[in-house]
Amino acid sequence: MSEQVSVAILAAGFGTRMRSRKAKVLHRAGGLTLIEHVVQAAAQVASTPEGIVVVVGHQAEQVQEAVAGSGVRFTVQKEQKGTGHALACCRDLLQPLGGLVLVVYGDCPLLRPETLSALVALQASSHAAATLITTVLADPSGYGRIVRDANGNVAAIVEQKAATPEQRKICEINSGIYCFRGDLLWKHIGELRPNPASGELYLTDLVEILNGHGRRIVPMEVEDSSELLGVNTRVELAEVDRMLRDRKAREMMLAGVTIVRPETVSIDAGVRIGMDTVVEPFVQIQGNTLIGEDCHIGTGSIIRDSILEDGVKVDAFTLIGTSRLDRGAQVGPFARLRLDNHVGSGAHVGNFVELKKVRLGAGAKAMHLAYLGDAAIGEQVNVGAGTITCNYDGRAKHQTRIGKNSFVGSNSTLVAPLEIGEGSYIAAGSVITETVPGDTLALGRARQAMKPGWPSRKRK
Ligand code: UD1
Ligand code: MG
Repeated sequence: MSEQVSVAILAAGFGTRMRSRKAKVLHRAGGLTLIEHVVQAAAQVASTPEGIVVVVGHQAEQVQEAVAGSGVRFTVQKEQKGTGHALACCRDLLQPLGGLVLVVYGDCPLLRPETLSALVALQASSHAAATLITTVLADPSGYGRIVRDANGNVAAIVEQKAATPEQRKICEINSGIYCFRGDLLWKHIGELRPNPASGELYLTDLVEILNGHGRRIVPMEVEDSSELLGVNTRVELAEVDRMLRDRKAREMMLAGVTIVRPETVSIDAGVRIGMDTVVEPFVQIQGNTLIGEDCHIGTGSIIRDSILEDGVKVDAFTLIGTSRLDRGAQVGPFARLRLDNHVGSGAHVGNFVELKKVRLGAGAKAMHLAYLGDAAIGEQVNVGAGTITCNYDGRAKHQTRIGKNSFVGSNSTLVAPLEIGEGSYIAAGSVITETVPGDTLALGRARQAMKPGWPSRKRK
């Protein structure tokens, strides 16, 4: 039987170099906060969600909120007294679980679950006290350096400030990702002493402590250091965001999605897209958007938290928020489906049409220049150019209902609350304020007057 694996995520620090009012791990990359990425990766290797403990400190409540619902637990580190102290704060929650304890940082969103699993596997097979991920960097400055013993195990980790000129030449660095045998970790963590220079408890000092007890620390050197990249500045945040976007686009393409000029497209981590859908350049697909097969997403479009069934066509420069588009619907170019819309199958929404809280029936059309808000529009209705639902009276919003197969002439003003029955006609240019029964022509405009000869008389 494989051993219990729990995870400590250190995320109490503020991240001063971000120059932000917001705690570092709450900044977003790849469509999620940094802490969400790390929790998601941890969830793939931890035996249970409760076995994941996030150490929070700065803006503890907001950090907890960001990953609420994932089932992880939290411990508050009131003062940031170092990485060793942060891990010690997890003791009450993790020691009873036994098994192995992974330690990761909350600001390393590129870390893949596969890498964590490999570390756990090495720990389980090596019978060491701990294993840790190392990598060789061309420029190791700022990192703790790995000092190996004659057997290739880790003798010590020396922080930059304490390193001798000779040690500073070591290019193998400590990633900060460890896997400990829980029993030995909790037995010896109390032996950490404050660093004389900073007064902090350094987790890295545990290496020498465990060695002193005759225990081995085994390194897992990884070739590709990119996934160990932590975010310290906004420059690094942008870099990490780019890498997460690349990774997501690649994953989508390998799953059968065509992405044209993928380097210009940004797709959030939570998005899913079906086979043979085409995504044009400069598209953003955000949140938990779900896109079916054989869809086409035109250039410059932004889609957030929406559901697009198979065969939906979104033409260029269209904005879609929290909406649902049924099979074969077509929207854009330059349409705005602001929020909570449901566009029926085969319905069309054309250029410069804004929808808000609209149910547009199957096969219905609003092709040009309209504002439709708080409306239920039946199947096969044709909404003419320039139609406006006057849904707001200055105090409250009101509903417009248009029965199926109706025809709303161009430049109609529909004053809500309003009901138009099935199969009716609204004459172009009408202002409609009263209920229109079914199968009725409603005209709400001044009758045309003719004055023959008037222009020439005026000119004289
Ligand atoms: C640490 C390691 C260093 C390693 C580097 C890799 C130590 C002493 N040094 O240095 O060997 O090369 O990471 O990035 O561990 N944190 C808390 N509470 C604290 C202090 C830190 O939760 O009291 C969290 C931070 O939010 C951060 C993480 O721990 O996510 C790392 O802390 P940081 O101060 O950045 O450590 P480094 O100096 O980078
Ligand atoms: Mg750091």
